[in-house]
Amino acid sequence: MSDLAFDPSRISDAVSKASSEFLIPTYRRYPVEFVRGENCTLWDVAGNEYLDCLAGLSVVSVGHCRGEVTAAVCEQMAKLVHVSNIFYTAPQFELAKRIHDLAGWGRVFFSNSGAEANECALKLARRYGNLSMNGATAVVSLKKSFHGRTMGTLAMTAQPEKHEGFEPMLGEMRYVESGDEEALESALDGACAVFVEVIQGEGGVLPVGTEYLKSVREMCDSRGALMVVDEVQTGLCRTGNWLAFEAHGFTPDIYTLGKALGNGLPIAATVARDDLAELMGPGTHGTTMGGGPVTSSAALAVLGVMESENLHLAAAQAGAALRERLEAIDGVESVRGEGLLLAAELEKSSAEVVEAALGHGLVVNAVTSTAVRFAPPLTIGTAEIDAAAERFEKSIRGAAA
Ligand SMILES: Cc1ncc(COP(=O)(O)O)c(C=O)c1O
Repeated sequence: MSDLAFDPSRISDAVSKASSEFLIPTYRRYPVEFVRGENCTLWDVAGNEYLDCLAGLSVVSVGHCRGEVTAAVCEQMAKLVHVSNIFYTAPQFELAKRIHDLAGWGRVFFSNSGAEANECALKLARRYGNLSMNGATAVVSLKKSFHGRTMGTLAMTAQPEKHEGFEPMLGEMRYVESGDEEALESALDGACAVFVEVIQGEGGVLPVGTEYLKSVREMCDSRGALMVVDEVQTGLCRTGNWLAFEAHGFTPDIYTLGKALGNGLPIAATVARDDLAELMGPGTHGTTMGGGPVTSSAALAVLGVMESENLHLAAAQAGAALRERLEAIDGVESVRGEGLLLAAELEKSSAEVVEAALGHGLVVNAVTSTAVRFAPPLTIGTAEIDAAAERFEKSIRGAAA
């Protein structure tokens, strides 16, 4: 792998111009245009090579352009791309069975994004509150959480700066500090559900902790409220378990999957206990594209690769190695997270380091103003971990304070 000096020629003029003229400017983008990917490597338009330690924000878990996924998609594309969900197609039903088998329970609703999977969970929770809890419909979520950008999931996302200018938020949302049991106890009055992430990915890769997660479970049980776990970022092997909650000794009532499920194709899932699924009859929820044959085939291939390569174990092992390498770097104060969802807390600004890293051929992101997130494909090898750590060390040394 080459050592690269950052230069502005990593985006073509036409793309740069079109993006500023024709797109709604919701993103601050780095000036790099990627054109190709293979496993953990990306190439930009100028031919520069990068080690991808972000995987499109925890998405490309089985690696870029993974052969099995490409083959499954191409095969399905040539057979049948779409029919309405008012008909049957085999890949969706096979995938539902496969997802049921992950935890050994649950029925599935498929959608196209993590936010939609959480919207479905929110509707399920409201339905449960109305039908089974005498109309208790408040929803509790944790401060620094991230559940999506639709109006419902934005309201659950307890980051006030993301609400600014979009008020009023959906009513009956309550936000509690992660770890604060007293606050949760009072927030649960009149509530039908608590939404949590096992690790708050967008909040800064902040582990919520086994003790508090178990308290949430117990408090929900004693009130009859649902515990919903958002596994959109943590799910499917990333943290060293198939599902992140498995390592913490509790079972949710509903969990959601997204990101890694399609390895970059738009598919997400809401998994609910049987009795909760029964609350949703025909016509209560729906989607045009969700669970279509192409994205479902992709997801089946993704899960096949994860299973045959034991990627949950690989993530635990590679995660331990990466953590050790990062902890040894001068300028890294600490490393947090589980498996291959890690954040390095720095002594300097993360934005500067991330920019310098791009110049050294390393893709990571600034998850807080002082922390850098690492979420590489779970297929990352030892040599790539070494290279990532070396490039990161150079980036810290080179970046302004
Ligand atoms: C925990 C969590 N939930 C939900 C979402 C939203 O997913 P999507 O962007 O696919 O709608 C994200 C995205 O980062 C996430 O990290």
